[in-house]
Amino acid sequence: MTTFIRNAWYVAAWSKDIGRSLTARRILGEPVVLYRKEDGAPAALLDRCAHKLLPLSMGRIIGNVVQCGYHGMEYDCTGKCVRIPGQDVVPPKAVVRSFPVVERYDAVWIWMGDAALADEALIHRIERHGVPGWAVIDGQYQHHRTNYVIIAENLQDPAHTTYAHRSTIGNPAASEVPVKVEQKGNHVVSWRWTNSVPPPPIDRDLGGFTGLVDRCQYYNYFAPCVSRVDVVTMRDGLDHTEENMDLGQRAFSYKFLTPETEGTTHFFWMHVRNFGVGNAELEASLIEGMNRTFEEDNVICGAIQLEQVATGIRQHTFLAIDAGPARVRRVLEQMAANEIPTTQSKTEIS
Ligand code: FES
Ligand SMILES: [Fe+2]
Repeated sequence: MTTFIRNAWYVAAWSKDIGRSLTARRILGEPVVLYRKEDGAPAALLDRCAHKLLPLSMGRIIGNVVQCGYHGMEYDCTGKCVRIPGQDVVPPKAVVRSFPVVERYDAVWIWMGDAALADEALIHRIERHGVPGWAVIDGQYQHHRTNYVIIAENLQDPAHTTYAHRSTIGNPAASEVPVKVEQKGNHVVSWRWTNSVPPPPIDRDLGGFTGLVDRCQYYNYFAPCVSRVDVVTMRDGLDHTEENMDLGQRAFSYKFLTPETEGTTHFFWMHVRNFGVGNAELEASLIEGMNRTFEEDNVICGAIQLEQVATGIRQHTFLAIDAGPARVRRVLEQMAANEIPTTQSKTEIS
């Protein structure tokens, strides 16, 4: 059974990577060609000529049309064939599929499902993006050798960090603090607070914390494709309100999972923070550290997938720590089975 959910917005590419040339990318198992029209707006067509199926990405752009590199058929951005060299009549089947695309948050989002359902308001809202006092790291990409559901489970699984990320973000103390799990619609969140503890060095250095602090992690998954991990360090004794959390040291770590095939995933990540804004050295080390951490997950999830495929089973034993990951998997399987229109940005738990 396919696990793909088509009626949702996915990140197809970072804006900086799409220009006046043809970019081929497989998304949800389908070949897509991305480019910009003369006015700069992005466009996306099925990357398969209606004639002999040559990928259109092997052709070229002329003005606003894409010309096939085999016999020169030309398609506009709706996928309609507007010219066939050597004949005047355009056969009704001379058309390729086009996909709705929208540019937002420096990314090009694509809708692979029913175009009539492609409501821009459903594009996931990125917290604090563009707000003064908050820095954004974007443009980050990794190719993951794993089905996106395994990655989604991993991103909802705080228990692995102590062991899988020993050399990066692993913290032995964290594995003993249980997480709570809650679900509302397509949003699953696992979280934990560790209250009235001494600040770790990074919080002391960057946040200037001297006394005791409250720290939390929220692992949010907005099915089908957005993960957001919120990390807060704040002075202890304050209520854990949005306003008070913003006064502390806070970051939103986003991953956008776009299935490439059943076994591989485009892994885009973005990071929004209110500390060390303008600190280029910190930014470089965050980018390096996070890429290394996510690559550690890529290795582990890839190895798991190989064994799952070899055995035909997903896991032998269920543990208490599986509550969050299992919830995410269930939501994704249900959505894939029903292919219900997503409400991904309207079901946040506040
Ligand atoms: S394959 Fe594209 S025009 Fe013939
Ligand atoms: Fe991880």
